[in-house]
Amino acid sequence: MANIIVIGMQWGDEGKGKIVDLLTEFADVVVRFQGGNNAGHTVVVGEETIILHLVPSGALHSQKKCLIGNGVVVDPQVLLEDIDDLKKRGYFKNDNQLLISEDAHLILPYHRRMDVARERMKGEGKIGTTGRGIGPAYEDKVGRVGIRVGDLLDEKIFREKLEANLSMRNACLETCLHDKGFGLEAILKEYVGYARKLKKYVGNTSIFIDRQMKQGGHILFEGAQGTHLDVDHGTYPFVTSSNTVAGGACTGAGVGPTKITEVIGVSKAYTTRVGGGPFPTELKDKVGERIRERGREFGATTGRPRRCGWLDIPLLRDAIRLNGITGIALTKIDVLSEFDPIKICTSYKYRGERLEEVPSQVKVLQECEPVYEEIQGWKTELRNTREFDDLPPRAREYVRYVEELTNVEVIIVSVGERREETVLRRNPFLHGPRLL
Ligand code: GDP
Ligand code: IMO
Ligand code: MG
Repeated sequence: MANIIVIGMQWGDEGKGKIVDLLTEFADVVVRFQGGNNAGHTVVVGEETIILHLVPSGALHSQKKCLIGNGVVVDPQVLLEDIDDLKKRGYFKNDNQLLISEDAHLILPYHRRMDVARERMKGEGKIGTTGRGIGPAYEDKVGRVGIRVGDLLDEKIFREKLEANLSMRNACLETCLHDKGFGLEAILKEYVGYARKLKKYVGNTSIFIDRQMKQGGHILFEGAQGTHLDVDHGTYPFVTSSNTVAGGACTGAGVGPTKITEVIGVSKAYTTRVGGGPFPTELKDKVGERIRERGREFGATTGRPRRCGWLDIPLLRDAIRLNGITGIALTKIDVLSEFDPIKICTSYKYRGERLEEVPSQVKVLQECEPVYEEIQGWKTELRNTREFDDLPPRAREYVRYVEELTNVEVIIVSVGERREETVLRRNPFLHGPRLL
């Protein structure tokens, strides 16, 4: 039995979709456990590029079950769009492939409007959210007034809950945020339509996973966002509203921590960030622009240009501690082929003091200066490489240096966006972790 969590080690968009798609071949079930359609996970197979927002990135493997756990916030319209997109391309032929937790909370139109209106009011200090209503939906969940997928299936309960919420939310929208409120009947009509289409997919995902585990099935847990966007451990308040760290897989899928066998962290060979917040290694020069162009660093969900910079080891060290990471998937190393020298930030300098870890106060992190080591570039394209020993010596050195600085083995080196553009050094479903 191998039950593996795949987690982003940076600020999201590390290439989790590619890694999950790659590993799904060896799993039986793939589970999303937090976040919502703020996520955009790209999977490239053959000539096809698919961006998934809610459906797990294992969806292209027809024999593998895809689960949306209780910890996810579900915008039914976007979920149906994900499903339609897959079906149009010839995937997801069997409706049995998808199971959605009845306990997952719903995103409603007023969540989206509140998200956008609040960002507008914040002006310069805005978080730069995706505007998908994620924060307000999680607020309702924690505030114990949320509406869940199970509620949606009972029109009477849904109406009652929606009525109670709407009076509060409309007051807030109109009085505090100077925006428009919503009418009850329009939302009701829209969501009853979604309920009809989604009903067949809804069930108890925690029980399903437990049964699978008892039968010896392998489960792959797919994280969304990244460690430093975690609401507790990230660069607060420039974070998302869920626990993106590995612990979130247990609460967000209804699985006990003793069942998890390994945590794989995904990191780009450099760093990117979308939205506001501190970013010590950010490059605001031509090098940053070239990384953005070569890496095609534009948001998979919002299309926004991603901020780009060198690899930041303190961020990775923190991620290893917070998630218990035992293997790293290093992605997009091919993007660095153009650069010489390549820099790696090994620590920060804060008012003359050396910091090896990420300080928890954003004000301190904003003042941190990266301390760089320079590595010679390899200046060779890597996309056709499939074996570690076939990488140019300097690219191998780069990977080994990351291992040395983090004390965790790099088990996957990704050299392109396609499934096959991968150097698989250890398959976590077949072989357990190796201490360096
Ligand atoms: P996710 O949110 O972590 O799943 O990542 P995104 O899909 O938002 O962004 C990662 C982008 O990098 C996508 O466009 C992927 O197709 C692409 N990608 C993933 N791995 C590689 C790689 O090794 N090399 C290159 N060039 N692109 C990659
Ligand atoms: P994947 O799963 C990158 C960022 C937003 C913003 C902050 C809060 O594709 O890696 P939110 O809408 O969640 O309230 O926005 O978090 N953010 C992401 N950045 N990748 C993501 O997901 C993200 N999901 C949210 O840009 O800074
Ligand atoms: Mg993404």
